[in-house]
Amino acid sequence: MSIEFVEPLDQKKIIDMLISAYADEWIAAYYYTLTAYAIRGHVSEEISEHFLKEAEEEIEKHARMIADRLQDFNIDPPRDFRKLWEISGCKYPEIPEDPHDIDAWIIVAIKAEECAIKSYRDLYAYTHGRDPVTEELAEDIIRDEVRHRTNLINLLSKDGVRRLTGV
Ligand SMILES: [Fe+2]
Ligand SMILES: [Fe+2]
Repeated sequence: MSIEFVEPLDQKKIIDMLISAYADEWIAAYYYTLTAYAIRGHVSEEISEHFLKEAEEEIEKHARMIADRLQDFNIDPPRDFRKLWEISGCKYPEIPEDPHDIDAWIIVAIKAEECAIKSYRDLYAYTHGRDPVTEELAEDIIRDEVRHRTNLINLLSKDGVRRLTGV
């Protein structure tokens, strides 16, 4: 029989992970909104719409789910807007120079989704079987972020896919 070491559940750690994810959602939403308004070119209108829809889901669904869960712990979301960058695990990405290089903007968003997927996987792994409410939140959001990532990849041109995969 093997004895498995299970790290005791640290509520402060869960709260910190939730707050960091909350900041990531706002930062991603800002980047997506900026992308919608910045990109130029003949396919930009359709892609802008997509980015605005995604930004909405990050704030109205994900950030809200996290804020609701934080309330269960009697914690408010960060009050100081300037702190969001500091708290964010994924940070604000480097912005592409050329507004006509839409693939570059999409690739940055794909990286943001991948970072989000990783942090929600960490949250899921930490809470798995020990905090079912947060575990379910993480599982639910991972599903959305994976869908976002796939949708973004589908918006890339053939050359964009090549740039993303490096092949
Ligand atoms: Fe999100
Ligand atoms: Fe997302």
